[in-house]
Amino acid sequence: MISPEIIEEIRQKANIVDVISSYIEVIKKGNSYLACCPFHNDKNPSLHISTSKQIFKCFSCDKGGNVFTFVQDYEKIPFIDAVRKVANLIGYHCDELDKSVRSIDNSTKLILSTLKEASTLYSFILKTNEGIKGVEYLKTRNISDDMIDYFSLGYCPEDGESSIKILRAKNISIESLDKAGIVVREKNHFIDRFKGRIIFPLFNEYDEVIGFSARRINDSDEAKYVNSINTDVFNKSKVLYNFQNALKEAHDAGYVYVTEGFMDVFALYLSGIKSSVALMGTAFTKEHAKLLKKLNVEVRLCLDGDEAGQHGMLRMIDILENENIKYRIVNYKNCLLDPDEILQKYGSEVLKKFSNRLFERDDFVFQYYLKKFDLNTIDGKRNFSNQLVEYASKLKNPIDRELLLKKISEKTGISYDSYANIINQLEGKIKKEEVGKGDKNISISLNTVTSKKNITKLQRCEDKIISLLLNYPNAIYHYRQGNNYFNDEIYNKIADYIIDNYELNNNQFDVSKLITTLSQKDDEISKKVLDKIIELQDIDPRQIYSDDLLDESISAMKEIVEKEELNKKLKNKTPQEQAQIIQTFWSKRR
Ligand code: UTP
Ligand code: MN
Repeated sequence: MISPEIIEEIRQKANIVDVISSYIEVIKKGNSYLACCPFHNDKNPSLHISTSKQIFKCFSCDKGGNVFTFVQDYEKIPFIDAVRKVANLIGYHCDELDKSVRSIDNSTKLILSTLKEASTLYSFILKTNEGIKGVEYLKTRNISDDMIDYFSLGYCPEDGESSIKILRAKNISIESLDKAGIVVREKNHFIDRFKGRIIFPLFNEYDEVIGFSARRINDSDEAKYVNSINTDVFNKSKVLYNFQNALKEAHDAGYVYVTEGFMDVFALYLSGIKSSVALMGTAFTKEHAKLLKKLNVEVRLCLDGDEAGQHGMLRMIDILENENIKYRIVNYKNCLLDPDEILQKYGSEVLKKFSNRLFERDDFVFQYYLKKFDLNTIDGKRNFSNQLVEYASKLKNPIDRELLLKKISEKTGISYDSYANIINQLEGKIKKEEVGKGDKNISISLNTVTSKKNITKLQRCEDKIISLLLNYPNAIYHYRQGNNYFNDEIYNKIADYIIDNYELNNNQFDVSKLITTLSQKDDEISKKVLDKIIELQDIDPRQIYSDDLLDESISAMKEIVEKEELNKKLKNKTPQEQAQIIQTFWSKRR
């Protein structure tokens, strides 16, 4: 665990604008900082950052928090890992931080240790007599002993039972094996999901085994690869094969290659390129892009040369651009092979040269459509023009646009002006669409306003009081003097937290510090308290505070509470009794 003092020191040293800027583009407008909110589909910047409060808040989706919770939510990682990330970003070092381990719960720990045991066993088996078939297969794929170790490859015996028996003998329960996704139920016993296959362990960025992929070693019509099912620690669309090694290699190499499959990673390794990852046959996602971004080097796209691979790379462009990642694309020219096939056919030197022939984005897109359409036909020319002009219309940089249009025009013989005209028309259309969308946005925000109206009168008063406390330190002082309290447990908790924070900080309220405290608790109440605080926190409070404002809300709240209690007392009473109760109520009030 990291001590609260260290966490507080990091929080104070970190500047929220700098940290958020390292993830998304932040715009300075006057004295305030704005960004497009990454937590919802944001077209206009609605995320506001306050330097004085060191918090952020989105006015559209209501997401908010401090420097730690931004990183936590953006990267979807535990709080304590976010603290570590922030420390890294601001170059903060201390022994305590470096030594402390990642926070994981016991059930996750058990799954991870089960996977590690299984992986060790499969690796061991590959080197025994039981694994001969596996070794022979790997030889046919040119995979050396050195690579078997580097990638921790293994083999699962064909019977499907011996591996499970050995793991069970190590005191690993069937339940754990099941949670780790290793066993499948067959009639009334459990067998190894990966039986008779070469094992490729899959790692997370902490070098922990999180699952397996397993290839058949014969030409049967069974699935070529069997993968771990999604478990608490494994989600195929968020994992990049070999990322744990790329983390170590990318910095020195200055690049990372992205391929489709395991065999392509191995092929690049054989041609001297160790900084590479594979998508494992799934579509590229934003999560993949986030992983790549951590490497902080040029990404080099090297999917297969066939249409599926080339189209896959075309689709990756949007995601990479959105994440602001620097990338280039391997120029396959007319080659339809994948890196592994290039290696088999032409050898490692050729693959190495091949993978160093790189395209910039627009050249790749141009080439892609050039290969796709036959420019000797009118139809082909038209389709080629349409696709590329639409693409060009989306380019933000006018120089990129002009260069591309000139290139298209040279190829088709259609004049530059014709293309430029189409672009102008397209732009008009896009503007109109945006206006249309704007109307929709308004109706959405109106809906949220009405849903907020559904809260009770009492809640509205309570919210008002908390909002004054959160945004005006004088209100805290006044509230405390009056010995006030709420009837609702959550609101009382919030007030207590605010007052504690205020007193501990020499009569100043530090909301970012309070968010840090609350984010580390994982009970339901603390979560509710935190949500409420963020909801009611103003980024830039403009109201002029006076104690009357607070007093009004407090008396309004008290009146509602009293009336509610009176109504409760009146229930199921005779009219005489009710009259009596009302009389005492009014006499007490006066
Ligand atoms: P490929 O079919 O290109 O496999 O699928 P490969 O890596 O080149 O393997 P070889 O050369 O045929 O042995 C690319 C990736 O898609 C995933 C694997 O991760 C594979 O590396 N895949 C493929 C599966 O998960 N399941 C399958 O059945 C096939
Ligand atoms: Mn392949």
